[in-house]
Amino acid sequence: MSFANILVLGRDGQIGSSLVRQLPQAFPDARITATEADEIDLMCNDSIAQAVRAINPDLIVNAAAYTAVDRAESDTEAAHQINAVAPGVLAEEALRCGALLIHYSTDYVFDGTKTLPYLEDDKPCPLNVYGQSKYAGEIAVAQTEAYALTLRTSWVYGAYGKNFLLTMLRLGKERDELRVVDDQIGVPNESGTLAAFTIKLARKGASFLKERRGLYHFSAVGQTSWFGFAQAIFADFPNPPKLTPISTKNYPLPAQRPMFGVLGAQRLADTFSLTMPDWRIGLDECLTQLKNRP
Ligand SMILES: NC(=O)c1ccc[n+]([C@@H]2O[C@H](COP(=O)([O-])OP(=O)(O)OC[C@H]3O[C@@H](n4cnc5c(N)ncnc54)[C@H](OP(=O)(O)O)[C@@H]3O)[C@@H](O)[C@H]2O)c1
Repeated sequence: MSFANILVLGRDGQIGSSLVRQLPQAFPDARITATEADEIDLMCNDSIAQAVRAINPDLIVNAAAYTAVDRAESDTEAAHQINAVAPGVLAEEALRCGALLIHYSTDYVFDGTKTLPYLEDDKPCPLNVYGQSKYAGEIAVAQTEAYALTLRTSWVYGAYGKNFLLTMLRLGKERDELRVVDDQIGVPNESGTLAAFTIKLARKGASFLKERRGLYHFSAVGQTSWFGFAQAIFADFPNPPKLTPISTKNYPLPAQRPMFGVLGAQRLADTFSLTMPDWRIGLDECLTQLKNRP
């Protein structure tokens, strides 16, 4: 059965805004409600419960989160409430109204000591407050009886929002040389592609998805470093800046990052017959979109 009443949290975020652009075409007959903190504030459990009960959705997509990884180190309570407590409340409310919940998590739940792609059964061991809060959110969702799909992704960027791609493009115009970390390995995931694959998943229908609730790695194919990502961004750039690879220890930040965060998405492929394209395809599409933007 197709979804008729869809609630998206995080309307103005990277994945959330991509969903808002794509959902009406995929679900033309559905009522779509997309909210920000002024309508449903994840800092406030009552706000979540009241709003979900009023909307009574059959699909909730939680694209809202506390994503400021470095700020989270000193803003622990807010990160915990938004990323750990609120998803549990949302899951309880989803259960109450019989909705499917799609929730996103992160590769930062892992400590990055592996050298092969992380699988869903690998044990998380987050290195920073953001990762700890997101892992606690995964557990909070899983501990309810809700029909929930938790989708772990990594290195999200896109044509909108605050992200590595847009930062590189801005700095590339301002500076002759950029120093970029070359020893952290992961997979860049374009927000439009993540939204498109979330929708492909949703189109499988409520009962099919409810029977397959659980945790899935949700990532493009391939891997690179931040330096490799920057090289790909500037590959066709007129007058590109000189890119210099540096190591993490020469770019100190408040939050420690995993050195390796590649997510193997075979479970997603086996369960839903969905495989995202190579990360470079998402990048090409995004750069084309930016070039054609008025
Ligand atoms: N960004 C990444 O690299 C990355 C990597 C792996 C996984 N993920 C996960 O993917 C999901 C989406 O990430 P994203 O990058 O699209 O996020 P994003 O662009 O940072 O957007 C997050 C959204 O959450 C909203 N939000 C923050 N605090 C809120 C609150 N108290 N109540 C309601 N809404 C609130 C934000 O609103 P304001 O802008 O008004 O604060 C924003 O609209 C998250 O679960 C994230 O953990 C992200």
